[in-house]
Amino acid sequence: MKETVRIEREGAVAVLTVDRPEKRNALNAAVRRELIAALDELRGDAEVRVLVLTGAGEKAFVAGADIGEFAERTPLEQRAAMTGRRVFDEIAAYPKPVIAMIHGLALGGGCELALACDLRIAADTAKLGQPEINLGIIPGGGGTQRLPRVVGTGQAMRLVLTGEIIDAAEALRIGLVDLLHPAAELRARTLELARTMAAKSPVALQMAKSAVRAAAEMPLAAGLAYETELFATCFASEDKREGVAAFLEKRPAEFRGS
Ligand code: COA
Repeated sequence: MKETVRIEREGAVAVLTVDRPEKRNALNAAVRRELIAALDELRGDAEVRVLVLTGAGEKAFVAGADIGEFAERTPLEQRAAMTGRRVFDEIAAYPKPVIAMIHGLALGGGCELALACDLRIAADTAKLGQPEINLGIIPGGGGTQRLPRVVGTGQAMRLVLTGEIIDAAEALRIGLVDLLHPAAELRARTLELARTMAAKSPVALQMAKSAVRAAAEMPLAAGLAYETELFATCFASEDKREGVAAFLEKRPAEFRGS
């Protein structure tokens, strides 16, 4: 039984909702643990091909790490809390696409959670930022590393060093979010995009995610070699046989994920 994370299955798409609206969905130990458990539960579920991550209530996607947990922590205790499996890395390395669906506030660890996802889709009312500097700390969920890779060093410096919270239009302009929708349409439009992905080959989705992610981590020559390997690996799949056959036979492909 999960108390802070809900899983809803909508066909081949699973929506994971951080469900602590009274605390603006702040990431405490329970949320982190239950998010990892939810990812584990859905990893081997062949029915689920794409995940959408969001927060409950109107006000926040996730308003950050639970600041209450920081109050009495020593450096050693904080380091211990950050060892082992970390939800940000689990999402980044997840074999299925994970889409952040952001309404309201995505601050601190919430912004980092969104940054770990493969795509960020926001309501036009959303606000994002890394306000840790106001607490006398820095982002610790990958923000200093993933944010510059997404928006560039200058914009990342500005956000991390000032703690400024930006609106959705500006987040779109600097590339922190990828798509904006009117708040009332956010869920429908996000699920529509998720379903479009979910109709593709799960094998190809996994390879494609891995290859695109490698672009941020590998030198160009190594990344190109990695792409070549994954491309060739796709030729071992039934889905490749089906996709090519369906094209040649002028019919829609039915991908089974093998
Ligand atoms: N950690 C722990 N509790 C949090 C939280 C966080 N990151 N963000 C919000 N909460 C709690 C508040 O303490 C409050 O709890 P209470 O009702 O027991 O007092 C509750 O959520 C509602 O917050 P409130 O500030 O009353 O709501 P709001 O809608 O007016 O403001 C925020 C929302 C997010 C702007 C504001 O709560 C805030 O600035 N939070 C901290 C954001 C932050 O610095 N995140 C980075 C952390 S590293």
